[in-house]
Amino acid sequence: MRIFTTLLLCSVFAMPTAQAAGDPVRGEQLHQDCLGCHGTELYVAPRAKVKTLAALKKETERWNDRMNPKFTKQEIEDIVAWLNRDFYKFPQ
Ligand code: HEC
Repeated sequence: MRIFTTLLLCSVFAMPTAQAAGDPVRGEQLHQDCLGCHGTELYVAPRAKVKTLAALKKETERWNDRMNPKFTKQEIEDIVAWLNRDFYKFPQ
């Protein structure tokens, strides 16, 4: 029983790492491809309109529709992680 509890706890704590988190370093490199239309001035006040992390992700996905080839889900996570770390700074 005890070992079962330990295993259960381990799997619960391992979950966040199993879920692919964004890598801001990679995101910054990937974002080079987004610079065709705008620079990073759009991501800071007074230009920035995005107000939540969820909205930032949505906006990034929306612009990804214009990309060819498109970024993968993981690459979107990376870009969002970078945008948030360096510009928006929303609480995670
Ligand atoms: C086809 C041109 C184009 C491309 C390509 C593009 N964007 Fe944009 N993006 C825009 C324009 C224009 C706006 C401003 C829209 C507005 O002011 O409402 C914008 C706005 C944004 C915003 C909202 C900023 C804010 O806080 O108001 C984000 C975030 C963004 N783009 C991210 C990206 C990312 C990430 C990529 C690459 C995947 C990308 N964009 C590629 C044209 C583009």
